[in-house]
Amino acid sequence: MKTSIVVPLLLLLFVFNLQADWREESEPSDQLENLVKLVPGTSHWMFEIGERYKNLYWAAKQGRWEFAQYQVEEIEKLIKVVQLARPKRAETAQEFIETGLPAISDGVESRNWDDFKPAFVKLNQACMTCHGKNDHAFITLPVEPLSASSPVLNLPE
Ligand code: HEC
Repeated sequence: MKTSIVVPLLLLLFVFNLQADWREESEPSDQLENLVKLVPGTSHWMFEIGERYKNLYWAAKQGRWEFAQYQVEEIEKLIKVVQLARPKRAETAQEFIETGLPAISDGVESRNWDDFKPAFVKLNQACMTCHGKNDHAFITLPVEPLSASSPVLNLPE
């Protein structure tokens, strides 16, 4: 075959291959491998935990205790997701579940801002203890978040 035909043919094959969608056109083992690579890591989940942390604070401040309780439950679920997604964080995450979460649960259950406030400070410390143990001590959190993202709380941007 002449090179003048071979080169465009190879190019065409290359382009076709790039466009092939692995989700539909590859072996299940390759699909699984790609899916495992796509499992979001700690920082992804932490971003959401950070938002819920702020929402928790402001929900309590507004006396919206059920919404505050909901935030605590979602934070716990997300910490469990981190345990599964990143096994090297599993042990410190477990410590947080056992020693960090009970105080804030009690604080929310009290439905009283004066009891909630010190419980939130304890939560803040528990979050940052885990950051320290995972070589991210520079990620610090405010004990009095200035804003919260949930439209439920309707705070200014
Ligand atoms: C299992 C230990 C652990 C616990 C518990 C934990 N964190 Fe984190 N967090 C990390 C690690 C590790 C990172 C850095 C991300 C990475 O290495 O991928 C991080 C990062 C963050 C970030 C930065 C996200 C970004 O990329 O901008 C925020 C915000 C955050 N955590 C909030 C919290 C809050 C709030 C709590 C407590 C309610 C908490 N974290 C509890 C381990 C933890």
